[in-house]
Amino acid sequence: MTSSNSDAARQPADPTHLRNGGASVVFAPDVFGVPAVAHWGAALDDADIPGLLSTATPAVMNSSLDIPRSFSITAGRAHGWSGTPTIEARAGDAVVDGFSLVETTHEGAEVRFVLRDAGATAEATFHYLLDDAGLLHATIALANITADRRIDITATRTLLPLPARAAEVVDFTGRWTHERQPQRAEIHDGTWLRSSRRGRPGHDSSFLTLTGTRGFRFRTGEVWAAHLAWSGNQEMRVERLPEGAGVHSAVLGGGEIMDAGELRLQPGETYLSPESLFAWSDQGIDGVTARLHASIRSRPEHPRAPRPLLLNTWEAVYFEHDLAALTVLATTAAELGVERFVLDDGWFCGRRDDSAGLGDWFVDETVWPEGLLPLSERVHGLGMQFGLWFEPEMVNPDSDLARQHPEWILSENPLLASRHQFVLDFSRGEVEAYILERLDDVITAAGVDFVKWDHNRDLHASLGAQGDRHVRAHTLGVYRVLDEIRRRHPLLEIESCASGGGRVDLGILARTDRVWTSDCNDPVERQQIQRWTQTLLPPELLGAHVGPTVSHTTGRHASFSFRAATALFGHAGLEWDLTAASPEERTGIAAWAALYRELRGLLHTGVTVRGDDVDHGALLHGIVSHDRREAVFAWVRTETSGTANTPRIPIPGLDPGATYRVRVREEIGAAGRHQVADPAWMSGDLTVTGAVLAQGLPLPVLNPGNALLLHLTTVSI
Ligand code: GLA
Repeated sequence: MTSSNSDAARQPADPTHLRNGGASVVFAPDVFGVPAVAHWGAALDDADIPGLLSTATPAVMNSSLDIPRSFSITAGRAHGWSGTPTIEARAGDAVVDGFSLVETTHEGAEVRFVLRDAGATAEATFHYLLDDAGLLHATIALANITADRRIDITATRTLLPLPARAAEVVDFTGRWTHERQPQRAEIHDGTWLRSSRRGRPGHDSSFLTLTGTRGFRFRTGEVWAAHLAWSGNQEMRVERLPEGAGVHSAVLGGGEIMDAGELRLQPGETYLSPESLFAWSDQGIDGVTARLHASIRSRPEHPRAPRPLLLNTWEAVYFEHDLAALTVLATTAAELGVERFVLDDGWFCGRRDDSAGLGDWFVDETVWPEGLLPLSERVHGLGMQFGLWFEPEMVNPDSDLARQHPEWILSENPLLASRHQFVLDFSRGEVEAYILERLDDVITAAGVDFVKWDHNRDLHASLGAQGDRHVRAHTLGVYRVLDEIRRRHPLLEIESCASGGGRVDLGILARTDRVWTSDCNDPVERQQIQRWTQTLLPPELLGAHVGPTVSHTTGRHASFSFRAATALFGHAGLEWDLTAASPEERTGIAAWAALYRELRGLLHTGVTVRGDDVDHGALLHGIVSHDRREAVFAWVRTETSGTANTPRIPIPGLDPGATYRVRVREEIGAAGRHQVADPAWMSGDLTVTGAVLAQGLPLPVLNPGNALLLHLTTVSI
């Protein structure tokens, strides 16, 4: 349904109700005729809308405007919004603000509002789609409609209002090998701003911003969450003004941020923002996760083939590339059940350590005299796929590429090398062409099935040839190259790695098939990193590897069974010199590979659930099939138990009316116990209703660094 509102200020449009997936978003015109979000949350009936609107006008405040305040989708100072504006742009010297509605196109759970600013310089199209999972997708397109003026954009933000009961915010920080660490804060007046100016989201990226009722947890509380599907500079904010936001309290959202001059629209040009995603839940964080996973899994590009068990050579051999040794490693891997063999860094010209070679994407004949084909053929002959590492955006000053084309490199202060490398300017056509040609050539010649696409440094000044900032242009160039590689190699899968998990966002994942979750393979750290990364991403998109006994990044010692149980809950792999594994370890690996093959159908399609009521140092997480007939749980202890006994722990997400057979799966090794004997139910298979499991199972007190796997299947009685 399209309605035109050229006389918008005087003829407010009808309300628009998007309802889908158990959620509603309602837009209603404010006093200026501009749509404002009147509701984002629980599903409403159309019959509720008149009442919602008749209660949507706040009081007129003391010492304030003479009209009630509003917070519209184009909130800005021209309409009395004193918070951060939705659009920050200038047309010549004039501020782009004061929007009025031109047209509304509403169809089902999708609406498009077209607005023009007061100076008639820009046309903004706000697009909202509430998908079947109840996830709201929002974009802003800003067009320069002047004949002769340039528009400079520094930010466009999609901001949604929050009710006053959204009292706390949980967002994320971190560092290399310690990504996605949650931090919780009270929402106060002011701005809680998380921005990334690293040219990539970064290890500290607030990749998901969760706001919710006081004390919201995985299984309880009402939660409003936001994510930006973008791999460049960005911000996410929670902001509260003393006057609130209409009848709401605070606002949540964000967008891409640009430096002055970074985005200049000439007449006729249009900027399209990255997509913002918003999820509401009345079932805690798990409810947000359920919507996100369902929506992500419905994407046409979502990988559907079983996720192959892989071996990555990085922590196995580092730069020590040797065909004979790698052939032995590949043969051992295949014998133990590995399905994809990935040759990491070190295969290309001059790359004997991390100080040289990036950019020279030709096989180094001093190390690989016959090229990569002998290894690739051997790997394929063993029935495995062949994967290869690239870091296409980067260049070492010590490389032929840097020597031949210094002008291709984004300018930085020379002291700002990072891992001895700088960044190529992917907005340059010749860089794009060179990288495409090199990747294409190597992928084709070596029969590559999988690319690990790495990105090992932040972007800083990142100046183009004119001295202007190129983060946005570079990010779009990377997307273009990835899209083109996929077009040329439709069966190729790609992993997004950025020194581990420094680029985990749904922008890069629209053109890649998984992320390397973290360079840390220590299972104690990994339990937390995967738990929180999985809040946004389903486990089949999270690379999770069994590393060596002593972690290379933390020095911590971990049992095989704990490493294996941790890696099971992702897209599993190994990153370990298997030729040095003991016979017992090899038996364990083969059993684990079989368990992964048995369970991956469930693990990679089911619903992620996490228990709240566990004591400090323990974790309970699991995957439950959509029909709730099968589930796998991990009862994990990362620190010593403070209590001598573990009381009943509720097992979440099951069907209370179903009867389950509960089996302890210990084929990858028994979890170490800190007790004389297990709770009695563990002496044989248990048959019990979901209602009892919701009350909980007494679980064993495990020693730290152990995980117990429970496999539940329904039985008919
Ligand atoms: C980064 C990645 C690692 C590995 C190395 C290779 O650190 O995160 O997994 O690929 O680069 O240099």
